[in-house]
Amino acid sequence: MADRTGRRGARENGALKILVTGGAGFIGSAVCRYVIRETNATVINVDKLTYAGNLDSVAEIADDPRYRFEKVDICDELEVARVFHEHQPDAIMHLAAESHVDRSIDVPAAFIQTNIVGTYVLLEVARRYWEELEGARKANFRFHSVSTDEVYGSLGATGAFTEETPYRPNSPYAASKAASDHLVRAWTKTYGLPAVTSNSSNNYGPYQFPEKLIPLIIIKALAGQQLPVYGRGDNVRDWMHVEDHAAALWMVLREGVPGETYNTGGGNEVSNIDVVRRICALLDEMVPAADGRSHTERIAFVPDRPGHDKRYAIDATKISRELGWSPRESFDSGLRKTVRWYLDNRAWWQRILETQYRGERLGLGPDAAGATD
Ligand code: NAD
Ligand code: DAU
Repeated sequence: MADRTGRRGARENGALKILVTGGAGFIGSAVCRYVIRETNATVINVDKLTYAGNLDSVAEIADDPRYRFEKVDICDELEVARVFHEHQPDAIMHLAAESHVDRSIDVPAAFIQTNIVGTYVLLEVARRYWEELEGARKANFRFHSVSTDEVYGSLGATGAFTEETPYRPNSPYAASKAASDHLVRAWTKTYGLPAVTSNSSNNYGPYQFPEKLIPLIIIKALAGQQLPVYGRGDNVRDWMHVEDHAAALWMVLREGVPGETYNTGGGNEVSNIDVVRRICALLDEMVPAADGRSHTERIAFVPDRPGHDKRYAIDATKISRELGWSPRESFDSGLRKTVRWYLDNRAWWQRILETQYRGERLGLGPDAAGATD
């Protein structure tokens, strides 16, 4: 049977054991669901369950005999070593991170700890574990680190990030991910650890925490609140559906060449104001207001994010040419499905609003942390 990538038969992957860090987060949960659905591999989900971790996002696979959960902080070396020892994984897909740029402006310490120290701990534990393996298990072991296009900094009006673009991170988040990528490279060059890195553009889709632009705007619109657009709304992001990303990550894990990096992007460059207007148009169609007014009337331009990167765009030629991956979802159809998902899954995000985050403005700096708009 072919999986979504069309490259490798889903049932030909053998009974692999994949350790997924951050599997209770947005992309990690999509990876866990993808691996259980599309392959016969076993998943060990290792997650600390920070504010962003949510076991509701993996509820549909929780009872699958090929799924396990370990509540572990990746910075805890003894616990990480125990997990490796107990589960004897064939590969690790490392997604656990502090992921929100605005929070990194307010409270950078957690980003340094998880994104840099956490990656270091995983690399060291993985290196010691891999060095003890023998034969095919050693040769086939992979450490796949999932990273971001933000390590490359900001683009002008033209061009796109390739794997050769120099690193120029601008936010504490981006700098911490750049450091993580450098550690992965060093462990490959110095110790020979068979690692691959992928750098992705902005993801969107179901189960995204409502601090991020697309779910935040949907949820605020449904609540009749102001729709905050930073600055003039002319910053551009290259949007990729999370399920396309999950398929790409599996392909990079299985077919990527150790020591290489792969850029993944959706090929959908859209300005923020356009994203917000498109969400409003979909909501006007799906849940029209009784008075016939458009959600666009509540768009509000608010003070910009400090150090706000102007434009991201990914050149995904390498992964397309060498591994045969390309995204399937167009932004129009993906955004429509995503808005529908948030309408149909209110319990998922309402619980978050009650317990973790109520939609307040983040990212104006440590002195303004928690400010409301
Ligand atoms: P997320 O914030 O939704 O989830 C992060 C997960 O990591 C959560 O489940 C959290 O509990 C867990 N976690 C955090 N600190 C941990 C720790 N110390 N130990 C164990 N678990 C911990 O993030 P996401 O958007 O799913 O991003 C996943 C990865 O993909 C990150 O590495 C991020 O940098 C990268 N990435 C994200 C995007 C995007 O658009 N969201 C794009 C490119 C790359
Ligand atoms: O490019 C990949 C990155 O994409 C990932 O590495 C990050 O983990 C992920 O969070 C995302 O970063 P961004 O900063 O681009 O995503 P965010 O959803 O926070 O913001 C998207 C754009 O929308 C950005 O230009 C800022 C803007 N924005 C965001 C929010 C939350 C607004 O205009 N208003 C808002 O309320």
